[in-house]
Amino acid sequence: MSAAAPTIKFLQQPTSQAWVEQALANLDTILLDHSHCERKAAGVALNLMFRYPSSAELVKALTAIAKEELEHFEQVNHILEQRGIPLKALPAPPYGAGLRSQIRPQEPHRMLDSLLVSGLIEARSHERLGLLAAHLDDAQLAKFYRGLMASEARHYGAYWILATTYYPKDEVNARLAELAPIESELLSSLHPEPRIHS
Ligand SMILES: [Fe+2]
Ligand SMILES: [Fe+2]
Repeated sequence: MSAAAPTIKFLQQPTSQAWVEQALANLDTILLDHSHCERKAAGVALNLMFRYPSSAELVKALTAIAKEELEHFEQVNHILEQRGIPLKALPAPPYGAGLRSQIRPQEPHRMLDSLLVSGLIEARSHERLGLLAAHLDDAQLAKFYRGLMASEARHYGAYWILATTYYPKDEVNARLAELAPIESELLSSLHPEPRIHS
């Protein structure tokens, strides 16, 4: 059964109610994992700028995203500090590596796949942060997640626009149609460790 979530372009399957229940029952771990997600999102944007330094549109869009993700990282870390949750490493769920394994190693495919994989991750983050906002009892935390949700929606839009800036729309749509089911499949059975992408 799926949780009550708006249909989000990009995502083939909505998040399950089981994930919402797992997240709410393990909020400290989810908050800590969320901090890791924001740092990784900033890192991915920076890495793409290092890989494609002369792609002006990409550099411009990803500079803005990297800055915003670092701001989110700082904000989540502030919440962790307020709640007495220490920063520490957490084993990553299979989701990220599973998606990255789909990135074809040769250009021009590599850039297209990298942009679409990032777009899918941002879209899923948007959906799941929205579910947290809708289900959290803590009004302040729910408000924080509603704010972040809007940013993540902009981010997946930006990755989509970049893909269609550098590749024909038919090619982008065709590759998205291959990657989106894989993204949903990676989340089809709930990972035992509570994570933003479990
Ligand atoms: Fe973010
Ligand atoms: Fe983001």
